[in-house]
Amino acid sequence: MEKPAKTKYDIHPLIKRRWSPRAFSDNIVEKEKLQRIFEAARWAPSSFNQQPWKYIVGVKGSDSYNKIIDTLIEFNRQWAKLAPVLVMVIGKKVDQKNRPNLTYQYDTGQSVAYLTLQAMHEGLFMHQMGGFKPSKASEYFSIDDEHDPIVVFAIGYIASYDRLPEKYQEIEKAERTRKNFDEFVFENKFGKKSEIF
Ligand SMILES: Cc1cc2nc3c(=O)[nH]c(=O)nc-3n(C[C@H](O)[C@H](O)[C@H](O)COP(=O)(O)O)c2cc1C
Repeated sequence: MEKPAKTKYDIHPLIKRRWSPRAFSDNIVEKEKLQRIFEAARWAPSSFNQQPWKYIVGVKGSDSYNKIIDTLIEFNRQWAKLAPVLVMVIGKKVDQKNRPNLTYQYDTGQSVAYLTLQAMHEGLFMHQMGGFKPSKASEYFSIDDEHDPIVVFAIGYIASYDRLPEKYQEIEKAERTRKNFDEFVFENKFGKKSEIF
């Protein structure tokens, strides 16, 4: 299913086409594609080039996959189990001198954003999830105190909404919405809309 962004201004087709489906097909994700999407993740910018992101990959049928599925809240588990690959995203909270890295979540998010667009380029779709239990993730994967599980994402080929349990089908078809520019791009004063738009 296509759910292109209804934009006021023209944007790159990959950004326009990207959305977060819950219906994934059984088709496996080729290893070469996974290699390239993590290559894209690798080349994201980060504060002092600290690259605080870490990823744990789970391919369906593996222990890694089963552990990730088990960390998800029930709402997410019901649809995410369709996905051929699940990934746990982790960030390193401290720098080399063991001081807090204040941008670790920001940097890790950028890495995921790069990965997302490469995935779109490869014909894949992704769906990120904050709805998981970080404490379970830390336990299952022996993640140390310097690191935080931040998000899980599902990745794979998109499928028709009718693969989903019924209660998710309406959400899958729902319109995508966004705030207007005057709510987030300002000039002169915080909250004062920019004249650019
Ligand atoms: C950090 C983050 C956490 C999210 N958590 C969940 C989640 O737990 N469950 C879910 O179904 N979708 C989750 N989403 C997906 C968002 O709801 C979705 O990106 C948003 O509604 C915009 O829709 P779009 O990605 O299709 O444009 C999450 C997205 C992000 C970036």
